[in-house]
This record gives sequence, structure tokens and C-alpha cells, in this order.
Amino acid sequence: MSRDEAIAGLRQAVANCRRCDLWKTRNSPVLGEGSLHAKILFVGEAPGFNEDRQGRPFVGKAGTIFDQLLNSINLKRQDIYITNVLKCRPPQNRNPFPSEIKACSLYLHSQIETIKPEKICCLGNFAASFIMKKFGLQDKLAGISLIHGKAFAVSTLAGQIEIIPLYHPAVATYDAGMLEPLKKDFFILEKT
Ligand code: URA
Ligand code: SF4
Repeated sequence: MSRDEAIAGLRQAVANCRRCDLWKTRNSPVLGEGSLHAKILFVGEAPGFNEDRQGRPFVGKAGTIFDQLLNSINLKRQDIYITNVLKCRPPQNRNPFPSEIKACSLYLHSQIETIKPEKICCLGNFAASFIMKKFGLQDKLAGISLIHGKAFAVSTLAGQIEIIPLYHPAVATYDAGMLEPLKKDFFILEKT
């Protein structure tokens, strides 16, 4: 099966998914988008209001900041792949429940298996927790303010990859002072 076929299958599965209750309140599920041959995979938390409307990841305020950060290291959306831990929006953007993360996890696992990124950038605590546990880094897991911008190398069946926790771009929408630390971390990403 080609990467296109695999991702098309996931898109179909997510469109019909009722594995947790979020299907009842979502408008559009958001599988993710970008290059299926991307070397860098970004993982956020869950769709918000705008993403749920459009069916696309990071298209609201946090998305505008994400685009600025990507541009600052000369990357475009087409160069990377971006998705979220949850594919459906939690009502009022509340935090994901552990049961929802578990129910939805098969989709992100499949995306990683299909895209085979060299680096996985975790945007915020929920993504960092999911990805670091998946790759056996639970001992290194700590609040994002302690581990942001560090690259953790792990060996996988697809070779060595790097896990890089980052602040969630949404933090800069309510605290403009967070833009600088985010930019600094993206520059590290450019060099790693
Ligand atoms: N925040 C996220 O975590 N993901 C999105 O897609 C948008 C905002
Ligand atoms: Fe299915 Fe995930 Fe949506 Fe829950 S959040 S309904 S598990 S796609």
C-alpha cells in the first residue's frame, strides 16, 4: 500500500469514527495534512474551533503563529506534516480525557508508521506526553517548560529518530512574551 493509500484509508476511518464520544459534537474531524514524505512531523493537541470548522489542522490563531515559526526557519506547510493527538475537537476546547487519547491513538500511531519522520516535534504537554511514552522516554518526561527545545534520540525499527518537545504555539496568543522562546526553539530545530 502506498503512503497516499494508507493516509486516505485513515481519513475515511476518522470520518466514520465513533471510538469516543467526541464524534457527537465535532463538525469535521481533522486528520492532519502536509507531505507524506516529510522529515519533520509536528503533533499538536486537538482541533480547536476553526480547525473543527475547516477540517484542517492549525488554521486559527495558534496556526498563524505556527506558520510564522515555520517561515522563520524557511519551511512551508508542504515541507512538513502536521496533526494532533485527537482528531476531533473537545467541546469548548477542554483538555482531552485520557480515555479519548487512548481511543484515538491508533490513528497517530498509523500516521507515524506511514510517514516515517526523522524528527517528531511535540507541541505542548499532551503531545509530548503521548509521543515520549510511545518511544520509551517516560523517564525523561517533565513539564514542557523543563524539556522544551531538547532533542531526545531514540532507536526505532525505521532507524534513529529525534523527539523534540516544544511549547504549544497557542501560548503566544495569550502571552506575547512566549514568542521569543518559541522562536529560539525553532532555530534549534533548524540546526538539529
Ligand atoms: N491547537 C492544536 O493543538 N491543534 C490545532 O490543530 C489547533 C490548535
Ligand atoms: Fe474517533 Fe478520535 Fe474522533 Fe474520538 S477523537 S471520535 S477516537 S477520531
